[in-house]
Amino acid sequence: MSGCPYFEKRHLLFRNQPQEPKEEQDVSQAGINKASKGGVVYGDYLKLDQIVTAQVLQSELKGNKIHDEHLFIVTHQAYELWFKQILFELDSVREIFIGGHVRDERNMLKVNNRIHRIVVILRVLVEQFTILETMTALDFFEFREYLSPASGFQSLQFRLLENKIGVPHNMRVPYNRQHYRDIFKGQDSELLLTTEQEPSLLKLVEEWLERTPGLETDGFNFWESLEINIFNGIHKEEQNIEQMSDCEDKEEMMAELLKQKELFTALFDIKHHEHLLGKGERRLSYKALQGALMIYFYREEPRFQVPFQLLTSLMDIDMLMTKWRYNHVCMVHRMIGSKAGTGGSSGYHYLRSTVSDRYKVFVDLFNLATYLVPRHWVPKLTPDVHTFLYTAECCDSSYCSSEDSD
Ligand code: HEM
Repeated sequence: MSGCPYFEKRHLLFRNQPQEPKEEQDVSQAGINKASKGGVVYGDYLKLDQIVTAQVLQSELKGNKIHDEHLFIVTHQAYELWFKQILFELDSVREIFIGGHVRDERNMLKVNNRIHRIVVILRVLVEQFTILETMTALDFFEFREYLSPASGFQSLQFRLLENKIGVPHNMRVPYNRQHYRDIFKGQDSELLLTTEQEPSLLKLVEEWLERTPGLETDGFNFWESLEINIFNGIHKEEQNIEQMSDCEDKEEMMAELLKQKELFTALFDIKHHEHLLGKGERRLSYKALQGALMIYFYREEPRFQVPFQLLTSLMDIDMLMTKWRYNHVCMVHRMIGSKAGTGGSSGYHYLRSTVSDRYKVFVDLFNLATYLVPRHWVPKLTPDVHTFLYTAECCDSSYCSSEDSD
């Protein structure tokens, strides 16, 4: 049975420790004895002296200690620690993409695991508000004045997270008619600017999707084949409806089909896509959108299974960030009603406007469901592409741009 890693005898932390004494000893005390002979111990390793002394109650400093302020501080600190872990995972994933290491498809599993870890942490963060909700508005009122003008709006890590995922600054809801970065000074402000300029997760995923095998126009040409199949399919349905005897349903069915036709005409119109990109309603390039749809349709092919899971997790991130915003705003409403925030915003009303698609980075992936078609409309893979997608091995060319290929 494995024990606590801090007292595990083969653990790296204890590698330079003296040999275990030969004489018989109480096994339950063995680790404790070892720790007392030097090496890293739990509290030092985790720097607990700094962490557990970092709860300084402003109310106490002002001579009016309010019990619930302790929970308020610990909750925020816990959030900030998890934000830190998310940023850590996110940076490592971005590094894998930036360094071109996704050319080895084995690294996609690593990317997937880390993104999935972010998803699991976010689930905890969405739920975590329930602990703070054990505090009543009256309890909060008792110490709120001591916090001012501190505000969650000044959370650097939260803004870094948004930027690194890919929330563009022009999509943010204005805060007191100020740019969000103006709240931050010096190094923090510079760091935020850097993260706006660096490739975000969205940008990196976009480049990767653009390289989806099967999109090549001189090969399988998924997009053109799909367009032909869909319009053939619609045409056949049109003929079937026309052959029906006149009835109310017939008109309705024809109207519905017409809507479908318009929808797909817009999908295959690059100008329409660019128009939506300009308005911020689409975020992925036209080619990346095609790659994503291809992964959706052929998700059961071995080589597309991990990419499909990744796309699912990216939507989870967006969904959970939206749920975080929603749970936060609900709690704020309950705590301060419609009073202004300590950071100076309108409070509830400002926060409510952030629970919107403006902040959804992977909105295109959600919208893909609009374009799902009957299976028999999906182009049949050519033997070449089929063999390629069936072989889920270390990649030589699949998701690499030509200059990336070895
Ligand atoms: C009693 C609990 C809370 C209240 C009343 C509250 C209130 C507010 C208000 C009013 C704002 C808008 C900015 C302002 O004018 O101050 C805000 C923003 C924010 N708060 Fe909270 N908050 C609470 C708990 C938390 C917790 C636990 C976190 C976790 C880190 C948090 C993180 C944030 C963040 C990141 C923002 C910026 C959101 C954005 O601009 O999109 N808040 N909060």
